[in-house]
Amino acid sequence: MPYITHIKAREIIDCRGWPTIQVDTYVDRKLAGRADVPQGRSTGTYEAHVLIDGDEKRYQGQGMLKAVANINGPIAEALSGLDVTEQRNIDQTMCALDGTPNKANLGANAILGVSLSAARAGAFCCSVPLYRYINPNARFLPVPLMNILNGGKLTANDLEIQEFIIMPVGAENYAHALQITTEINEALRPMVVEKYGILATNTGDEGGFATPMTGIWEPFEFMQRACERAGYKVGFGEDIVYGLDCAATHFYNKGNNTYELGAKTYDPDGLIELYQEVGKQYPIGSMEDPLDEDDIDGFVKVTQAMPDTQIVGDDLFVTNVERLKMCCPKGAANAMLFKVNQIGSLSEALDAAEFAFRNGYGVQVSERSGETEDALIADLVVALNGGQIKTGMPIRGERTSKHNRLLLIEEELGNVAAYAGHNFRRPV
Ligand code: PGA
Ligand code: ZN
Repeated sequence: MPYITHIKAREIIDCRGWPTIQVDTYVDRKLAGRADVPQGRSTGTYEAHVLIDGDEKRYQGQGMLKAVANINGPIAEALSGLDVTEQRNIDQTMCALDGTPNKANLGANAILGVSLSAARAGAFCCSVPLYRYINPNARFLPVPLMNILNGGKLTANDLEIQEFIIMPVGAENYAHALQITTEINEALRPMVVEKYGILATNTGDEGGFATPMTGIWEPFEFMQRACERAGYKVGFGEDIVYGLDCAATHFYNKGNNTYELGAKTYDPDGLIELYQEVGKQYPIGSMEDPLDEDDIDGFVKVTQAMPDTQIVGDDLFVTNVERLKMCCPKGAANAMLFKVNQIGSLSEALDAAEFAFRNGYGVQVSERSGETEDALIADLVVALNGGQIKTGMPIRGERTSKHNRLLLIEEELGNVAAYAGHNFRRPV
């Protein structure tokens, strides 16, 4: 039996230079698995607790030494001697040790790091890649949702909506999807320079241009022209459809129940009407967090109002079965964003995905804005046969590592690999 003999964590840094955690799992005294913990900036209220040091003298309080100590101390002790391939037992043991519903004692960052590192170690001990360890039937390469124009909390501009996305649904395979994306991005670049100058091609946290646009119409006009210039057709059933992560929680005024967008004020119904108008002119394949995270009725309305568009809950669901149980029976959204660190263990994230699938919801695997080079989510999206991934533009190591891992998986799967393409919501 592959027993855990030792667990060792350390503080490392993410792509923004902030501390995060890396965890090593040893089996039979040999290093068998390593994983890094990602972190968000545009976070949802209902996410599990991230334990930070709070010591202002170090990293403005954002250090992770307490979480590291929790791993190297009580967690390592509790897991020593467990079978590394018993993922659920490992995760449950840590949750029980923590004893809170949101992992407030040990920290979701601590528990997740161990959970992912143990999964890698389990795969290593079984001599299979992680995606196949989780699911021997894994075969779908996802459509990448490429956020080509960035705003919201992930950039230093005034664009309210966080991510304007192109989805190369008509690509032949993952490699072709990357080629199409870069060609469109390079067609967009001179258009941005022409109108806003060279500085506007600086990029946000997830690699899209951080231009001084505001509102919703102009970014769509630019994306449309860039696709045309690059020679790709836009439309359902064509090469490209669009996506959005509105991250609306972050431009919502709770006080008067309104949203500020492009120098105009909208109530929730007005905002839904605006989305519908945009949807009439541009094919929106996927739209994430169109309304505030607490507006479940609004999510129901927008899901009904835009039947051709996948409505994804990120801050709404926070990869949490309890949130899904509350929202799914009402018909709020029809897809879940899958971020392992929102819930804090692999087993619970897989539970949420399974619940979503069983209820006819799609599952979109996602990066966090604060990533490391660890490409683990590439294996997860293939393992889930999820069909869709949001992992940023293919620039900078913390984003390219995932794209390059997917290229490798595509090669490894060989003739059983299938690109989700137009069926990204439900790969067939
Ligand atoms: P975050 O942003 O990782 O900062 O939360 C990404 C998103 O909102 O999808
Ligand atoms: Zn989001």
